[in-house]
Amino acid sequence: MNALNRQWRLVRRPVGLVDANDIKFGEAEIPEVHENEFLVQNLLISLDPTQRLWISGKETYFPPMPVGDVMWAGSVGVVKSSRHKDFPVGAHVSSFSFGMQDYCVSNGEGVSVIPPFVPLDAWFAVFGHIGITAYFGLLDIGQPKAGDTLVVSGAAGAVGSLVGQIGRIKGCRVVGIAGTAEKCEWLKKDLGFDATINYKTENVALRLKETCPKGIDIYFDNVGGEILDAALANLSIGARIPMCGMISQYNKAEWSGPTNMMELVNKRARMQGFLVLDYLPRAEEAMTQLGGWLNEGKIKYRVEIVSGLASAMTAFNRLFDGANQGKLVVDLRNDSH
Ligand SMILES: NC(=O)c1ccc[n+]([C@@H]2O[C@H](COP(=O)([O-])OP(=O)(O)OC[C@H]3O[C@@H](n4cnc5c(N)ncnc54)[C@H](OP(=O)(O)O)[C@@H]3O)[C@@H](O)[C@H]2O)c1
Repeated sequence: MNALNRQWRLVRRPVGLVDANDIKFGEAEIPEVHENEFLVQNLLISLDPTQRLWISGKETYFPPMPVGDVMWAGSVGVVKSSRHKDFPVGAHVSSFSFGMQDYCVSNGEGVSVIPPFVPLDAWFAVFGHIGITAYFGLLDIGQPKAGDTLVVSGAAGAVGSLVGQIGRIKGCRVVGIAGTAEKCEWLKKDLGFDATINYKTENVALRLKETCPKGIDIYFDNVGGEILDAALANLSIGARIPMCGMISQYNKAEWSGPTNMMELVNKRARMQGFLVLDYLPRAEEAMTQLGGWLNEGKIKYRVEIVSGLASAMTAFNRLFDGANQGKLVVDLRNDSH
């Protein structure tokens, strides 16, 4: 065990992309473990677009993260010492309460024990919050039927790539929207998407017309903004729009919403937001099914590993310029300091 606890703290609310003056790297003492508590050493930390919302100062589905807090994050850790009967030493645990740091003490609230059959490297890409989001967002909110045309934005990202593959399993025709030729190629060649649109080089509205001649039955939205507008203009009657996120807006002080909501009326369409938090009681259902598909080779995933806690906050902005190749994860396992 290292002698000190390295951690990232929010010191100032960012304007635009996060920079080194907003979140600072420092050290603190390793906290003591009391009765009914255990000490966790973080092994893997998830970098997620939603962290940008937590530090923005805006009220979201959580109250704003206070300035001065250790950065909130999803992570996987190992129990190093324990005075809690349900969390033995050596157990792999996951939570959104461990923070972006080496060590933390937990009382077990909001902590899941990772089943031994789950490979740790696949946890964030397939089984944890990402898998649960994709699985219930598409199946519960999107209600796919065989033959439906499903369009996914942020399609080569962690959530989007799973959504498209689940859509294929359910018999949908899947069109993915992504920001590079390499990502579009991966979606078509490796994941079996039927068509792709590179939103940085192509006219999205026009290409949606070409690739979805009967209109869009399900638009799974990860990005909001102009792409959402283009999708709204190409809906079929009775379309469903699971609203998962709006990453195109997260770094903006003023958000711009869709301008053609009347299309929901014209097409008798339903747009519904959802949060993974509401589906946590049904997590096992998603994990079992996703694990089965993974074993059968029906779903694939990409994880981009960032080595070392010190690199975490520079890597964070890769989510916003599209440089990340799949689920972005910080690996602390070989992190000597
Ligand atoms: N509702 C929920 O409970 C829930 C849970 C988890 C995640 N989410 C949401 O799901 C979305 C995807 O999250 P993720 O973790 O899977 O991230 P991700 O897709 O792995 O990474 C983010 C991707 O978004 C794309 N992007 C960034 N800026 C963009 C812009 N201005 N316009 C279009 N695309 C842009 C980039 O890909 P390109 O190269 O294609 O641009 C980037 O790789 C986010 O909106 C997130 O907030 C929601």
